[in-house]
Amino acid sequence: MVTLERFRWWHIDDVLPIERTLFQPEPWTEHHFWSELGQTATRHYVVAVDAGAVVGYAGLCDYPDEAFVQTMAVAAPHQRAGIGALLLEELLAEAARRRQAKVLLEVREDNAPAQRLYARYGFARSGVRRGYYPGGVDAWVMTRA
Ligand SMILES: CC(C)(COP(=O)(O)OP(=O)(O)OC[C@H]1O[C@@H](n2cnc3c(N)ncnc32)[C@H](O)[C@@H]1OP(=O)(O)O)[C@@H](O)C(=O)NCCC(=O)NCCS
Repeated sequence: MVTLERFRWWHIDDVLPIERTLFQPEPWTEHHFWSELGQTATRHYVVAVDAGAVVGYAGLCDYPDEAFVQTMAVAAPHQRAGIGALLLEELLAEAARRRQAKVLLEVREDNAPAQRLYARYGFARSGVRRGYYPGGVDAWVMTRA
């Protein structure tokens, strides 16, 4: 059974290999995760754990007028089993707890699986950042209001 836990510093070593597999050529560094987890007032990070192993993670940033999905990842062998949806539901619940009516995110324009997940939860494309990702791939800004 997959459960969600608060993402703590001791999970970073488990998360880094997943990050490096999924987000080449610019994975977040160990330092970046430490920095995110250190900003406790504005960040909400969770890990998904299956049989004691970290299999996914996600994080939200609480800005003054909107919340932003900082990251969302499920290890490849565990994808398409509902874990991404579980993580996203937790981030949306946190946004609601923080009274945020609007949630935004950025996703590669060629990442159809993630776009479908977000669309299922009410996100719609609200903008494009041209050449935002390495190699000049556009980012879609998706908004749920
Ligand atoms: C995007 C990601 C987090 C989805 O996680 P997941 O655990 O596989 O997603 P779920 O099993 O909860 O799927 C929920 C819905 O998302 C959509 N979806 C997920 N993977 C999909 C795929 N490969 N193809 C099409 N739709 C997909 C479907 O609508 C799916 O519902 P369904 O299975 O009932 O059809 C995961 O694929 C991932 O980590 N990808 C690499 C990293 C990444 O792209 N992160 C997002 C950056 S913005």
